[in-house]
Amino acid sequence: MHEPAVTAADLTRRIAERSARVGIIGQGYVGLPLAMEFARVGFAVTGFDTSLDRVTTLNAGRSHTPDVPADALRARLDAGRYQATTDLSGLAGCDAVIICVPTPLRKSKDPDISFVVVAAQEVASRFRPGQLVILESTTYPGTTEELLLPLFEARGARAGENFFLAFSPERIDPGNATFKVRTIPKVVGGVTLACTRLAALLYRQIVERVSEVSSPKIAELAKLYENVFRNVNIALANEFALMCRRLDISTREVIDAAATKPFGFLPFYPGPGIGGHCIAVDPFYLSWKMRLNGYEARFIHLADEINASMPTYVVELVTEALNRRRHCVNASKILALGVAYKRGVADIRESPALEIIARLRDKGADVAYADPHVPSIVVDGTVLKAVELTDEDVQAADCVLILTDHPEFDYRRIVEIAPLVVDTRNATHGMAAPAGRVVAL
Ligand SMILES: NC(=O)c1ccc[n+]([C@@H]2O[C@H](COP(=O)([O-])OP(=O)(O)OC[C@H]3O[C@@H](n4cnc5c(N)ncnc54)[C@H](O)[C@@H]3O)[C@@H](O)[C@H]2O)c1
Repeated sequence: MHEPAVTAADLTRRIAERSARVGIIGQGYVGLPLAMEFARVGFAVTGFDTSLDRVTTLNAGRSHTPDVPADALRARLDAGRYQATTDLSGLAGCDAVIICVPTPLRKSKDPDISFVVVAAQEVASRFRPGQLVILESTTYPGTTEELLLPLFEARGARAGENFFLAFSPERIDPGNATFKVRTIPKVVGGVTLACTRLAALLYRQIVERVSEVSSPKIAELAKLYENVFRNVNIALANEFALMCRRLDISTREVIDAAATKPFGFLPFYPGPGIGGHCIAVDPFYLSWKMRLNGYEARFIHLADEINASMPTYVVELVTEALNRRRHCVNASKILALGVAYKRGVADIRESPALEIIARLRDKGADVAYADPHVPSIVVDGTVLKAVELTDEDVQAADCVLILTDHPEFDYRRIVEIAPLVVDTRNATHGMAAPAGRVVAL
């Protein structure tokens, strides 16, 4: 049943009093922590998700992200402030709806905006005057005004009058122990000033600092600039690693020396390649949009080229390191440590570890992997199950290959007993080892 329509003033009051009903579409790494924060401060929150499996698990009190401990989820469920559902009809009863669905790439590396479109259509088809809708999914500049707004206008919505629409990019860093939803400043750009104000007011209930910008496009592009910045700087660090190897000097020592400069420099470190749902993907949302505007985003393409070449480079490092010990990759026992795209998480989306393991297997290596967060992976159609990390396995491996620097691994012990370590994350930095035993990027 639809609740009676509310005006902007009503909505302002309901947000300030925290009696507004908040709906969050997509209960993934982004949507779930956000839902928990709104529920924690007193809002009634519904988490909408199309995955029945995810909804069932959440309602049973099991969390899939390190940012939401199971006891916090259970507390919100028990308090009756949070519920997950696949039934989207409840969207009509929400005063504020926040969309946090995936924005992946197609095989062609063009944006796949279909999840956003489907989610927005679901909200628009149930539109009632007085609703606030916010898009958080990372996307190309123009999405909110060019794609979302017309869907609602077709239903009689007038932005800034009886409907409020804004973009506010998600910046969560899953597994980051320092920065969480509350302490990561939020950028908000509404279609009108009233839209910006209402969206900012909503976020101020759960986030310490909210920055209002003049349009959704600014907010959309700010997020892309952040991620392109990171992508390009990682590519630069990766290229430095290739150059330092030719000069036979330590990349890490060079970067750490440069980082002693207290202004104008930010350290980024090389790695086995870019993974995850953001840094590897988002820049293409911008380059695609720019291509439509007759402009080739050169930095984005160069950074992608360098970052995408890192898995091959890592395989070369392993091959060389084994060769120096008179082994060849074929039939060598390689123990890969970590397959998640970054430390402390279970997320293997776009993880370079998968490509590296596939390439090594292709060359005949006998690859096993350990990852306390990822029980199994599929490589070229074959299911590999994670092994427990034991001293025996480390000693028996021809090469231990560190691909993700999970905090659970005892790197000192690994360096002590492994015959050979190739470290793509600098997890063993500063640890004493006989010459040639540890090869770092
Ligand atoms: N994960 C991150 O670290 C991160 C950080 C910043 C921004 N983002 C951005 O946030 C967005 C969401 O990312 P995520 O990591 O949370 O994704 P995710 O895959 O973890 O979660 C998305 C959820 O949305 C659900 N879903 C898909 N379509 C739906 C629909 N039509 N209706 C309801 N539910 C639907 C999926 O079942 C899934 O549970 C993306 O645009 C991403 O780029 C992610």
